[in-house]
Amino acid sequence: MKTTSARSLTGAAAAAALSLGVAACGARPPVAPPAAVSALTPDAPPAPPFEPPYAGAESMNTEYYLGSAAQEATRFRQFAEQIRLIQARQTASRDQPVQRGFHAKSHGCAYGRLELDPDRDPRLRHGVFADGKGPWPLWARFSNGVGWQQADDELDARGLALKLMGVPGPKLLPDETGTQDFLLTNSPTPVGANAEEFMRFAHANAKGTVPGLGFAVGHLGTAAPALLRTNAIDSMVNAQYWSGGAFHLGAHQAVKLSARPCPGVAPRTPDRGNPDYLRADLAAAAAEPGGLCFELLVQLQVDPERTPIENAAVEWTDEVSPPLRVGRLIFPTQDLSDPRRAPFCRQLSFNPWHGVAAHQPMGHINRARRFVYDASRDRRQGGLEPKDFAGFDVPVVPEPGPAPASAPETPPGG
Ligand code: HEM
Repeated sequence: MKTTSARSLTGAAAAAALSLGVAACGARPPVAPPAAVSALTPDAPPAPPFEPPYAGAESMNTEYYLGSAAQEATRFRQFAEQIRLIQARQTASRDQPVQRGFHAKSHGCAYGRLELDPDRDPRLRHGVFADGKGPWPLWARFSNGVGWQQADDELDARGLALKLMGVPGPKLLPDETGTQDFLLTNSPTPVGANAEEFMRFAHANAKGTVPGLGFAVGHLGTAAPALLRTNAIDSMVNAQYWSGGAFHLGAHQAVKLSARPCPGVAPRTPDRGNPDYLRADLAAAAAEPGGLCFELLVQLQVDPERTPIENAAVEWTDEVSPPLRVGRLIFPTQDLSDPRRAPFCRQLSFNPWHGVAAHQPMGHINRARRFVYDASRDRRQGGLEPKDFAGFDVPVVPEPGPAPASAPETPPGG
């Protein structure tokens, strides 16, 4: 595997990236983005998926493991085929229907909105975070980690998948027309430095949680940190979730995302005797006045060594790249137990490649996902693109305005 380096940083993009990197360390005040980059709104045209969205963007440490993008894509097609087999076998062996290859169990789907902070850092104002954008209506799916149904007190990862709707402009994939997805799990790093390693884990994990965790033993520096976080959690409401892989934020900047509970979210005390206690707890929290709230955070790439893109196992620590709040995910009070929710939720398809060029996924682990998610979705016959709140009784999304920092949210009619 090649190592990442800054050697290919060129021209204006390099200067911009480097100056932004310095600013991210706190040595300089925030700088305004270069004029050409400011144009990267959600409406900007995309480039072919395996090319950088704009000249110069490739400079941000993208390297191809197998010599070329085409050779790498051949390998990813093999991964997609393997995932189809894993998906079928791991459910058949447990007498369960075919479902998502990973994150099969839903703890609930909630509607909400992303409200951007009016005073967000100027460096964040690209793509769906650009000036004049939002609030974005969205659906979120809270999930387990493995590709089958199991009790919530089993060791497992947890997921939070977000689907912003009504996002204008051409998309990186053709199957959805108006969405921008962000997929997060409750570990800052994914299992493995790259998709090769992730797939080796996927094969081990399909046999069961114990072989899956055993994978950590041989992969202490890469897979173990994520696998050691798979202890049963109390609640989906007060966990933090990270993107694991890197993404563009405009042409010039690589970032990672995370979501953490808004300040003041109280500890939860679920009934661990219930095998579906995470669903019960999430539904109870969503039904309370104020609903659910998470802060959406962005970490800027600082340099290729401490914040690499190709090696996803290196954590971008808060010390190296302090998280910058871009807005809040607000889920008004709602009834997650509505019987229409589960079938709707099952059909949704989240994919980091659902989105616009300004947020193009980066790094080996993310490039592989472009192939694998489609395969899993097709096999389970998912793929419903929600264009709105799908007939659920949703309060009208308000116009942007100054938001109280910590006041509980009570939706109209909620
Ligand atoms: C940065 C690392 C990753 C993160 C944060 C992540 C996160 C997620 C999340 C949250 C979901 C659930 C989406 C939903 O609710 O429908 C998901 C699904 C899935 N993930 Fe990943 N994932 C990562 C890497 C990978 C890799 C490397 C692969 C395989 C090579 C993979 C394969 C899948 C598959 C097959 C699904 C099910 C897709 C579907 O049927 O719709 N993931 N992932």
